[in-house]
Amino acid sequence: MKRIKTKDYVEMSKRACRKVIEAIERSDQPVLGLATGSTPEGLYDCLIEAYKKGHVHFGNVTTFNLDEYIGLSPDDENSYHYYMNEKFFKHVGLPTSQTNVPKGNTGDNKRACEDYEALIRDAGYVDLQILGIGENGHIAFNEPGTPFESRTQVVDLTESTKNANARFFDSIEDVPTKAITMGLKSIMESKEIVLLASGVKKADAMAKLIHGDVSEAFPASILRNHPNVTIIADEDALSKVRD
Ligand code: PGA
Repeated sequence: MKRIKTKDYVEMSKRACRKVIEAIERSDQPVLGLATGSTPEGLYDCLIEAYKKGHVHFGNVTTFNLDEYIGLSPDDENSYHYYMNEKFFKHVGLPTSQTNVPKGNTGDNKRACEDYEALIRDAGYVDLQILGIGENGHIAFNEPGTPFESRTQVVDLTESTKNANARFFDSIEDVPTKAITMGLKSIMESKEIVLLASGVKKADAMAKLIHGDVSEAFPASILRNHPNVTIIADEDALSKVRD
Protein backbone atom coordinates (compact mmCIF):
# COMPACT_ATOMS: atom_id res chain seq x y z
CA MET A 1 0.00 0.00 0.00
CA LYS A 2 1.34 3.41 -0.92
CA ARG A 3 0.94 6.07 1.75
CA ILE A 4 0.53 9.84 1.41
CA LYS A 5 0.64 11.75 4.69
CA THR A 6 -0.96 15.17 4.55
CA LYS A 7 -0.81 18.09 6.94
CA ASP A 8 -4.55 18.17 7.49
CA TYR A 9 -8.02 17.33 6.18
CA VAL A 10 -7.99 20.03 3.50
CA GLU A 11 -4.75 18.75 1.99
CA MET A 12 -6.02 15.16 2.19
CA SER A 13 -9.11 16.19 0.23
CA LYS A 14 -7.08 18.02 -2.41
CA ARG A 15 -4.72 15.06 -2.95
CA ALA A 16 -7.71 12.75 -3.33
CA CYS A 17 -9.35 15.22 -5.72
CA ARG A 18 -6.27 15.19 -7.93
CA LYS A 19 -6.32 11.37 -7.99
CA VAL A 20 -9.96 11.29 -9.05
CA ILE A 21 -9.41 13.83 -11.81
CA GLU A 22 -6.43 11.82 -13.09
CA ALA A 23 -8.56 8.66 -13.16
CA ILE A 24 -11.27 10.46 -15.12
CA GLU A 25 -8.70 11.77 -17.62
CA ARG A 26 -7.13 8.33 -18.10
CA SER A 27 -10.26 6.64 -19.43
CA ASP A 28 -12.92 7.20 -22.12
CA GLN A 29 -15.55 5.73 -19.81
CA PRO A 30 -14.30 6.12 -16.26
CA VAL A 31 -16.04 4.20 -13.49
CA LEU A 32 -15.73 5.70 -10.03
CA GLY A 33 -16.55 3.97 -6.76
CA LEU A 34 -17.81 6.49 -4.23
CA ALA A 35 -18.25 6.58 -0.46
CA THR A 36 -20.39 8.52 1.99
CA GLY A 37 -19.64 9.70 5.54
CA SER A 38 -17.83 12.81 6.73
CA THR A 39 -14.42 11.92 5.31
CA PRO A 40 -15.08 12.36 1.54
CA GLU A 41 -17.07 15.60 1.85
CA GLY A 42 -13.96 17.74 1.25
CA LEU A 43 -13.13 15.63 -1.81
CA TYR A 44 -16.61 16.23 -3.25
CA ASP A 45 -16.32 19.98 -2.58
CA CYS A 46 -12.97 20.04 -4.37
CA LEU A 47 -14.38 18.12 -7.36
CA ILE A 48 -17.35 20.50 -7.55
CA GLU A 49 -14.97 23.47 -7.57
CA ALA A 50 -12.84 21.87 -10.31
CA TYR A 51 -16.00 21.19 -12.34
CA LYS A 52 -17.18 24.80 -12.01
CA LYS A 53 -13.78 26.02 -13.21
CA GLY A 54 -14.03 23.66 -16.20
CA HIS A 55 -11.09 21.51 -15.06
CA VAL A 56 -13.06 18.25 -15.05
CA HIS A 57 -16.16 16.90 -16.79
CA PHE A 58 -18.40 14.10 -15.68
CA GLY A 59 -20.31 13.55 -18.94
CA ASN A 60 -18.81 10.09 -19.52
CA VAL A 61 -18.40 9.09 -15.87
CA THR A 62 -20.34 6.25 -14.23
CA THR A 63 -20.43 6.00 -10.44
CA PHE A 64 -21.17 3.21 -7.98
CA ASN A 65 -21.68 3.86 -4.30
CA LEU A 66 -20.62 1.38 -1.67
CA ASP A 67 -23.72 1.10 0.46
CA GLU A 68 -27.19 2.19 1.50
CA TYR A 69 -29.42 1.75 4.53
CA ILE A 70 -32.22 -0.78 4.28
CA GLY A 71 -35.68 0.74 4.44
CA LEU A 72 -34.88 4.33 3.45
CA SER A 73 -36.08 5.66 0.11
CA PRO A 74 -33.62 7.60 -2.10
CA ASP A 75 -35.30 10.89 -1.18
CA ASP A 76 -35.15 10.25 2.58
CA GLU A 77 -32.78 12.87 4.00
CA ASN A 78 -30.80 10.19 5.85
CA SER A 79 -30.34 7.90 2.88
CA TYR A 80 -26.96 7.73 1.23
CA HIS A 81 -28.62 8.34 -2.11
CA TYR A 82 -29.88 11.70 -0.83
CA TYR A 83 -26.42 12.49 0.59
CA MET A 84 -24.81 11.84 -2.80
CA ASN A 85 -27.38 13.93 -4.68
CA GLU A 86 -27.03 16.85 -2.29
CA LYS A 87 -23.28 16.78 -1.75
CA PHE A 88 -22.10 15.83 -5.20
CA PHE A 89 -24.22 14.57 -8.11
CA LYS A 90 -26.50 17.58 -8.59
CA HIS A 91 -23.56 20.01 -8.55
CA VAL A 92 -21.55 18.36 -11.32
CA GLY A 93 -24.29 17.59 -13.83
CA LEU A 94 -24.18 13.83 -13.28
CA PRO A 95 -27.38 12.37 -14.75
CA THR A 96 -29.20 9.85 -12.56
CA SER A 97 -28.74 7.24 -15.29
CA GLN A 98 -24.96 7.33 -14.72
CA THR A 99 -25.07 7.11 -10.93
CA ASN A 100 -25.70 3.91 -9.00
CA VAL A 101 -26.45 3.52 -5.30
CA PRO A 102 -27.54 0.14 -3.88
CA LYS A 103 -31.33 0.01 -3.52
CA GLY A 104 -32.36 -0.61 0.07
CA ASN A 105 -36.09 -0.20 -0.40
CA THR A 106 -37.18 -2.49 -3.22
CA GLY A 107 -38.62 -5.17 -0.94
CA ASP A 108 -36.43 -7.79 -2.65
CA ASN A 109 -33.00 -7.31 -1.14
CA LYS A 110 -31.50 -10.49 -2.52
CA ARG A 111 -32.38 -9.42 -6.04
CA ALA A 112 -31.11 -5.88 -5.40
CA CYS A 113 -27.71 -7.31 -4.33
CA GLU A 114 -27.43 -9.54 -7.40
CA ASP A 115 -28.49 -6.72 -9.72
CA TYR A 116 -25.86 -4.40 -8.23
CA GLU A 117 -23.06 -6.91 -8.78
CA ALA A 118 -24.23 -7.38 -12.38
CA LEU A 119 -24.29 -3.62 -13.01
CA ILE A 120 -20.69 -3.24 -11.79
CA ARG A 121 -19.55 -6.19 -13.90
CA ASP A 122 -21.34 -4.83 -16.99
CA ALA A 123 -19.68 -1.44 -16.51
CA GLY A 124 -16.27 -3.17 -16.63
CA TYR A 125 -15.64 -2.88 -12.86
CA VAL A 126 -14.59 0.17 -10.87
CA ASP A 127 -11.48 2.04 -12.07
CA LEU A 128 -10.96 4.04 -8.88
CA GLN A 129 -12.69 3.24 -5.60
CA ILE A 130 -12.76 5.82 -2.79
CA LEU A 131 -12.99 4.34 0.70
CA GLY A 132 -13.27 5.64 4.24
CA ILE A 133 -12.52 3.46 7.24
CA GLY A 134 -14.56 2.83 10.38
CA GLU A 135 -13.02 3.06 13.84
CA ASN A 136 -13.55 -0.72 14.05
CA GLY A 137 -11.86 -1.31 10.68
CA HIS A 138 -15.00 -1.63 8.60
CA ILE A 139 -14.95 -0.63 4.96
CA ALA A 140 -18.36 0.21 3.53
CA PHE A 141 -20.67 -1.65 5.94
CA ASN A 142 -18.45 -4.74 6.08
CA GLU A 143 -18.15 -5.09 9.83
CA PRO A 144 -15.53 -7.17 11.69
CA GLY A 145 -15.99 -10.88 10.93
CA THR A 146 -17.28 -10.32 7.39
CA PRO A 147 -15.82 -13.05 5.14
CA PHE A 148 -13.17 -11.82 2.71
CA GLU A 149 -15.15 -13.67 -0.02
CA SER A 150 -18.30 -11.58 0.59
CA ARG A 151 -20.19 -9.95 -2.25
CA THR A 152 -22.94 -7.32 -2.19
CA GLN A 153 -25.21 -8.37 0.65
CA VAL A 154 -27.53 -7.26 3.44
CA VAL A 155 -25.82 -6.84 6.80
CA ASP A 156 -26.70 -5.95 10.39
CA LEU A 157 -24.98 -2.81 11.62
CA THR A 158 -22.86 -3.15 14.77
CA GLU A 159 -23.49 -1.01 17.86
CA SER A 160 -20.19 0.78 17.16
CA THR A 161 -21.32 1.79 13.67
CA LYS A 162 -24.82 2.79 14.83
CA ASN A 163 -23.27 4.97 17.53
CA ALA A 164 -20.85 6.54 15.05
CA ASN A 165 -23.68 7.32 12.60
CA ALA A 166 -26.22 8.47 15.19
CA ARG A 167 -24.93 12.04 14.74
CA PHE A 168 -26.79 12.22 11.43
CA PHE A 169 -30.15 11.17 12.98
CA ASP A 170 -32.46 12.73 15.60
CA SER A 171 -31.77 9.84 17.96
CA ILE A 172 -29.92 6.52 17.93
CA GLU A 173 -33.28 4.70 17.74
CA ASP A 174 -33.74 6.24 14.30
CA VAL A 175 -30.53 4.73 12.89
CA PRO A 176 -31.50 1.82 10.62
CA THR A 177 -30.31 -1.57 11.85
CA LYS A 178 -29.52 -3.04 8.44
CA ALA A 179 -27.77 -1.95 5.29
CA ILE A 180 -27.00 -3.23 1.82
CA THR A 181 -23.29 -3.08 1.11
CA MET A 182 -20.80 -4.05 -1.54
CA GLY A 183 -18.85 -7.01 -0.20
CA LEU A 184 -15.13 -7.20 0.43
CA LYS A 185 -14.56 -9.31 -2.68
CA SER A 186 -16.57 -6.83 -4.78
CA ILE A 187 -14.48 -3.94 -3.46
CA MET A 188 -11.24 -5.84 -4.14
CA GLU A 189 -12.22 -6.13 -7.83
CA SER A 190 -11.70 -2.36 -8.20
CA LYS A 191 -8.62 -1.65 -10.30
CA GLU A 192 -7.35 1.05 -7.95
CA ILE A 193 -8.35 1.99 -4.40
CA VAL A 194 -7.79 5.21 -2.44
CA LEU A 195 -8.49 5.02 1.28
CA LEU A 196 -9.00 8.33 3.07
CA ALA A 197 -8.64 8.96 6.81
CA SER A 198 -8.55 12.09 8.91
CA GLY A 199 -8.39 12.84 12.61
CA VAL A 200 -7.13 11.17 15.77
CA LYS A 201 -10.24 9.04 16.09
CA LYS A 202 -8.96 7.03 13.11
CA ALA A 203 -5.41 6.67 14.49
CA ASP A 204 -5.90 3.21 16.05
CA ALA A 205 -7.62 1.88 12.93
CA MET A 206 -4.83 3.19 10.70
CA ALA A 207 -2.12 1.66 12.90
CA LYS A 208 -3.91 -1.70 12.72
CA LEU A 209 -4.39 -1.41 8.98
CA ILE A 210 -0.72 -0.73 8.37
CA HIS A 211 0.99 -2.81 11.08
CA GLY A 212 -1.60 -5.44 12.08
CA ASP A 213 -2.45 -8.87 10.71
CA VAL A 214 -4.52 -9.47 7.59
CA SER A 215 -7.62 -10.87 9.23
CA GLU A 216 -11.40 -10.96 8.85
CA ALA A 217 -11.52 -9.53 12.38
CA PHE A 218 -10.31 -6.26 10.82
CA PRO A 219 -12.01 -5.98 7.40
CA ALA A 220 -9.85 -3.16 5.99
CA SER A 221 -6.79 -5.40 6.32
CA ILE A 222 -7.89 -7.18 3.12
CA LEU A 223 -6.59 -4.12 1.26
CA ARG A 224 -3.05 -5.30 2.00
CA ASN A 225 -3.71 -8.04 -0.59
CA HIS A 226 -4.65 -5.53 -3.32
CA PRO A 227 -1.95 -4.49 -5.81
CA ASN A 228 -2.93 -0.83 -6.16
CA VAL A 229 -4.00 0.88 -2.94
CA THR A 230 -3.05 4.40 -1.87
CA ILE A 231 -3.76 5.62 1.63
CA ILE A 232 -4.20 9.39 1.79
CA ALA A 233 -4.42 10.37 5.44
CA ASP A 234 -3.59 13.34 7.59
CA GLU A 235 -0.97 13.53 10.35
CA ASP A 236 -3.54 12.95 13.09
CA ALA A 237 -4.89 9.79 11.49
CA LEU A 238 -1.33 8.49 11.03
CA SER A 239 -0.14 9.57 14.48
CA LYS A 240 0.13 5.97 15.72
CA VAL A 241 1.82 4.65 12.59
CA ARG A 242 5.56 3.98 12.62
CA ASP A 243 7.34 5.45 9.59
P1 PGA B 1 -16.69 8.74 8.35
O1 PGA B 1 -17.11 7.22 8.14
O2 PGA B 1 -16.08 9.18 7.04
O3 PGA B 1 -17.97 9.45 8.66
O4 PGA B 1 -15.69 8.77 9.47
C1 PGA B 1 -16.20 6.34 7.57
C2 PGA B 1 -16.74 4.94 7.66
O5 PGA B 1 -17.40 4.62 8.66
O6 PGA B 1 -16.49 4.16 6.74
